[in-house]
Amino acid sequence: MTQSYFPIFWNTDSGTALVVGGGEDAVRKVRLLVAAGARVHVVAPGAVAEIEAYADEDRITLSRRPVQDSDIAAAAIVIAATGIDTVDSHCAATAQAHGVKVNVVDRPDLSTFIVPSIVDRSPILVAISSAGTSPVLARRIRERIEATLSPNLGKLAEFAAGLRDRVAERLSDGRKRRAFWELFLDGYGAEGVLGNRPDTGRQAADELLDTLSRDEKPKGRVTLVGAGPGAADLLTLRALRALQRADVIIYDALVGPDVLDLARRDAFRLYVGKAKGRHSYSQDRINGILIDEARRGSYVVRLKGGDPFVFGRGGEEISALRDADIEVDVIPGITAATGAAAALRLPLTQRDVANVVSFATAHPAAGQAEPDFSALADPKQTAVIYMGKTKASEISAALIKQGRRPDTPVAVIENATLPDQRILTGTLGDLPAVTSISDLTGPALIVIGDVVSEADLSTSESLTEAAAKDRAVA
Ligand SMILES: C[S@@+](CC[C@H](N)C(=O)[O-])C[C@H]1O[C@@H](n2cnc3c(N)ncnc32)[C@H](O)[C@@H]1O
Repeated sequence: MTQSYFPIFWNTDSGTALVVGGGEDAVRKVRLLVAAGARVHVVAPGAVAEIEAYADEDRITLSRRPVQDSDIAAAAIVIAATGIDTVDSHCAATAQAHGVKVNVVDRPDLSTFIVPSIVDRSPILVAISSAGTSPVLARRIRERIEATLSPNLGKLAEFAAGLRDRVAERLSDGRKRRAFWELFLDGYGAEGVLGNRPDTGRQAADELLDTLSRDEKPKGRVTLVGAGPGAADLLTLRALRALQRADVIIYDALVGPDVLDLARRDAFRLYVGKAKGRHSYSQDRINGILIDEARRGSYVVRLKGGDPFVFGRGGEEISALRDADIEVDVIPGITAATGAAAALRLPLTQRDVANVVSFATAHPAAGQAEPDFSALADPKQTAVIYMGKTKASEISAALIKQGRRPDTPVAVIENATLPDQRILTGTLGDLPAVTSISDLTGPALIVIGDVVSEADLSTSESLTEAAAKDRAVA
């Protein structure tokens, strides 16, 4: 039968924690107790070096002898970790006889308390227990929580503690105080503190206190978030937090459903990418939506494939928001080029092979001249070309004309990092064949340079063969 437990946190000022034993099990508990600021007494005839070191540094008291009943009676809690059945059982019985709480490592049947897995963001502590049913499962859960909680969460808790009096002074109404904390913790102030920018936290708190004390509606804001190249687990932790807080998410074509699944369930989502049979949203219209939503007081996440500042028109959105006096910040994402490079185990720079890497677009902005590829001519340069599929012939001709060898290796990566990733390889001379591969319909990058010969091409197809197959089918 599974034992039931009621979670409580022990106040380390309330007494001494006795650890019986000096081996590996004991040191694991001593480490946790010392980190929690507990007064620790270790009793063991011999102890591992780490315990000896704690004693040398006066961080614990070490009695180098067998345990005595009086040690147990004097403790507030006891952890028996000798691994010797008779000693551990005796400790358990003696502790219980004196009304002292006891844990015997790996023996819940002898214990009156168990030690949970913890996520430590002191003063925030998360404790996880599987009631002894599956310590490995509890550890997995702990790892997940570790990954989602900012390492600076403790700083945020302390920052909030430092604000409490001022909030109480400025906002006498309990509902307003609650609104303050909700808005502050979901807002850019908390994000600032978590990002080691306490000044931003102070500024946000002041603004919010002013707004709430004047009964005004709080201001909205916008974060441009890089969603990465496709695979949802390539999102940054900061991007994940923003998605989980957003009231409104404005996203485009390169953001896949797996990424959106991670967002807050009740967030309003608006797709502004291109879609067949529908007008796509102009940049001006997108800017207008961002401004309107923020003015309504929402926290708006503008979610963009890759990185918002790499061929993502992030700069235009920022300046429109600034002109409208709307607070905006940016969370970077993994751009398609680095995502594809990692997927191919392809170094974009390599000593003696490529000492420059350039990201270029083959797609001119509306009303602008065609891009000039002459800057990509250096043979020791890796050129990564975004949106280049339909311009493959022009790119190939321009680079060969500028002096790049026609046999320079080339890779075309479609849907990089996604399950349907496809890799085609050939030479700069072969590159025009890309345009005749009709089923190459996903987003694709062209990587040109000698580093391509260093890539893992075990799953790649030949560019020319894929094009020839396509012609044969047609
Ligand atoms: C408008 S740009 C956006 C780039 C994005 N901001 C970034 O940093 O990756 C769109 C182009 O990025 C490239 N791209 C984006 N995701 C890709 C992926 N998963 N695989 C290959 N290319 C990708 C393609 O060239 C696509 O046409």
